[in-house]
Amino acid sequence: MKVLVVGNGAREHAIVSALAESPTGPHVYAYMGTKNPGIARLAKEHHIGNILNAKDVADYAVKCKANLAVIGPEAPLGAGVADALETNGVLTVGPKKIAAQIETDKTFTRRLLEKHRIDGNPRFGIYTKTEDAFDLIDELTPNVVIKPAGLTGGKGVKVQGEHLKDAEESKKYAKEILNTKIGTIPAVVVEEKLIGEEFTLQAFVDGHTVAGTPTVQDHKRAFDADVGPNTGGMGSYSDCGNLLPFLTKKDYDKAIKIMEETVKAIWKETGTPYRGFLYGQFMAGPKEPKLIEYNARLGDPEAMNILSIIDSDFTEVCERIIGGTLKRNVAFKEKATVVKYAVPAGYPDAPKNNVEIKVDEKKIKELGALVYYASVREEGRRIYTSTSRAVAVTGIANTITEAESIAEAAMTSIKGDIYHRKDIGTRNLVRSRVEHMKEIRPNA
Ligand code: AMP
Ligand code: GLY
Repeated sequence: MKVLVVGNGAREHAIVSALAESPTGPHVYAYMGTKNPGIARLAKEHHIGNILNAKDVADYAVKCKANLAVIGPEAPLGAGVADALETNGVLTVGPKKIAAQIETDKTFTRRLLEKHRIDGNPRFGIYTKTEDAFDLIDELTPNVVIKPAGLTGGKGVKVQGEHLKDAEESKKYAKEILNTKIGTIPAVVVEEKLIGEEFTLQAFVDGHTVAGTPTVQDHKRAFDADVGPNTGGMGSYSDCGNLLPFLTKKDYDKAIKIMEETVKAIWKETGTPYRGFLYGQFMAGPKEPKLIEYNARLGDPEAMNILSIIDSDFTEVCERIIGGTLKRNVAFKEKATVVKYAVPAGYPDAPKNNVEIKVDEKKIKELGALVYYASVREEGRRIYTSTSRAVAVTGIANTITEAESIAEAAMTSIKGDIYHRKDIGTRNLVRSRVEHMKEIRPNA
């Protein structure tokens, strides 16, 4: 079996590790934008190129005689890399461009749910002229969220009460999105602000079947106690089994149902089966969970929570995704996980670039943690940061608290001008999430 993995972040390092652990010993080939030392070590062969150049990726896949490909990030999905691979006979874990709209176009997703009467939408409106958005902004204030419709690298969404002071600032931001063309699509989405606790539900999808995985909570803010600017995600935790401590089985089942109906609707709407990973970001609230957004890929960091404890053969899962023979019962170890990211000092607003860091992999392993490289550069045996998240560690244990201690201990083996969030997965943080949910739905 020859598997090509596209991408070079920590998520892709986790994907390559999970493939490499497969008992059938697949040969992994990697197509990366920049060299990830962790992936390069595990792969039989790698190539550095432009992951958005669909033809070049497909040519490489053909050259390695790949039996299947796995695409990590959203940008190549949006650039039609899965389409090019499949045209060249390489079936791909990752949707074609038209189906990846579920992530690349927020208007596609909201309209799809509405048209197919799928639960989960908040109140929303889609506008191409700013003035048309004013009524809904006024009506929803103070609970309003303003979003560019297209991709912005996770930094385009602004929430009233957090980033926007009042209706006036919200209108100004809607105008800015349309006038200065923020995002890849010329439209603005105005939404009701959802209240509750966020959770991520990642699933494997073969066109029909949706195989859910343990839910995860990500932490987007840069600093402890959820303050500071938004980031790509500073860390995340999951509990034993599928549920987080503040979720009910009803929440989980409802979120899966929404995802199953969405997968069906995508096929109907686009004529294309959705094959790959589907990431649902939900808000657990007073009633049923609501959909914040979909991603057409695994999360980063959330991929590391689930792939570090997958108990089924991941290569076989990927084969079943492309073959349309997926089963719902993909197995995971009954373990809690905590992922923490080490990021360069000053990240995300003024990150220090090109700083040497020392990663004692041997010690991290001895502690029972896993290490995944993200945006780093290797020169000889030295490792240097870039301007993005650098290295992630994953602690695995019987409880979230123990997994957190392991991740924290592992962090002491990464030295340099970097920082990480100390609160993710701690007993206090998890307790505060549970208490928040109790306030929101006292009778759950
Ligand atoms: P997105 O890029 O859609 O994931 O949005 C980024 C962040 O904005 C999410 O992680 C949420 O914290 C927040 N957000 C987006 N939409 C909503 C909403 N309708 N209500 C509350 N928060 C939201
Ligand atoms: N952790 C958020 C994301 O992958 O989009």
